Amino acid sequence: MTKPEDTLPAVEAADPIFDYEMMIQEDKVHQRLYTEPGIFKEELTRIFGAVWVYLAHESQVPEKDNFVTSRMGLRPLIIVRDSQGDIRALYNRCTHRGSTICRESLGSAKSFQCPYHGWSYFNSGKLSGVPWPEGYACDFSDAKYNLAQVPRVASFRGFIFGTLNLDAPSLEDYLGPVREPINDWLDRHPGGKVKFSSANRLKFMGNWKLAYDNSADGYHVLFSHRSLLAMENRHHEDEQKGMSFYKGSPDGAPMYVKYYPNGHHFKDKRPNIENRPGALWEIEGIFPGMEHYEALFRERYGVKADRALDLASSEPVNINVFPNLHILGNHVQVTQPVSYNETDTTWYGTVVVDDDGELSGAVDDINTIRMRTQEAFPNFGEVDDLANFEQIQAGLAAEEDEWVYMHRGLGIKDRITEEDGVFTAPATDEVFMREYMKVYKLLMTSTPNIAITREV
Ligand code: FES
Ligand SMILES: [Fe+2]
Repeated sequence: MTKPEDTLPAVEAADPIFDYEMMIQEDKVHQRLYTEPGIFKEELTRIFGAVWVYLAHESQVPEKDNFVTSRMGLRPLIIVRDSQGDIRALYNRCTHRGSTICRESLGSAKSFQCPYHGWSYFNSGKLSGVPWPEGYACDFSDAKYNLAQVPRVASFRGFIFGTLNLDAPSLEDYLGPVREPINDWLDRHPGGKVKFSSANRLKFMGNWKLAYDNSADGYHVLFSHRSLLAMENRHHEDEQKGMSFYKGSPDGAPMYVKYYPNGHHFKDKRPNIENRPGALWEIEGIFPGMEHYEALFRERYGVKADRALDLASSEPVNINVFPNLHILGNHVQVTQPVSYNETDTTWYGTVVVDDDGELSGAVDDINTIRMRTQEAFPNFGEVDDLANFEQIQAGLAAEEDEWVYMHRGLGIKDRITEEDGVFTAPATDEVFMREYMKVYKLLMTSTPNIAITREV
């Protein structure tokens, strides 16, 4: 049992220097949003304390006592499936003098012992022991000595989110229609689920919003990923593979960007793909040995080979859940801020599971190829993006040159359609940035009802 407690005092009214009305306009935002440490500090409460933040995936904690460490903004957390089977987000913060108690990134533990003075906690968060307790006059059964916890933790189809905001809507309502592409992405897999595998951990010296701004940006691809496109093209006669949708005029290609309420958005390149088994594999980008693998699949799996090869291929979608979750191809990318100009970005590979035997034993072969296809973008594409983010951060240091423009598509008749707060536009449009910045402005000028809980 946990109970809400310790409701924090309301955040001080914004200093006039943080004038979000002035800094966030229809067509542009102020450079200070990316360069001002004081704004970053406010974001930790008003964004990362206020909305549902992605924390971990259930496949990382499949059994009782499994844990994985995570963060909510800068708050260090342990996401644990406790000994009763309940998923909790414990603060990784000793109630004695504040040290982190868990230094491993994942594992299995019924309890955690703080390395500093040895206070121990059950994985329910409850204090289990203190060295030489006769030296204390206090009552250690007081709940204030138990670990703090995120008061609201919920999952959507395996994705675990948490919020400190007691007034936030339900997770389902927060996600709203972005659940639809997430459902599609999962439902193409046997049993409608995936498991996380290991991660490619990257860091860039730039503000976390630079990654979010880029996550549905179809405008940069031909230029920023020129070398990746050139590499793909060198190996293909038909030039229709990998990221070839972006060649020529991407707005004329069958793809689009969609903006959903609450800051989420979606880049859908699937209309480029014929709706038949094997079509996804046919456009998969080049990697060494792929012809060999394909021949092997056809020999081993016969009529199921196309279905199996499609599962090894990257789904051409970018699904972005504000503020820190991105589903890209077969990857799940998580961004976590470190400071106003430093961000961690972690790319988790995903593997297919086949609990019902639908794939006739092909699952290991699928996951072997999937590992190869998943090496492509984080190794050859994301580094281009991170270099851009660092160069934007460098450019924005010129503080007298105040504005960042995001007005592509704005004011052009019939270019953007809107229905129930969902905007649809051509692939290179910046409508998704303009709309999420409106949500950001609302959050940064609101005071969330933040609380923590503790086991009693
Ligand atoms: S800080 Fe954890 S036991 Fe002292
Ligand atoms: Fe990119």
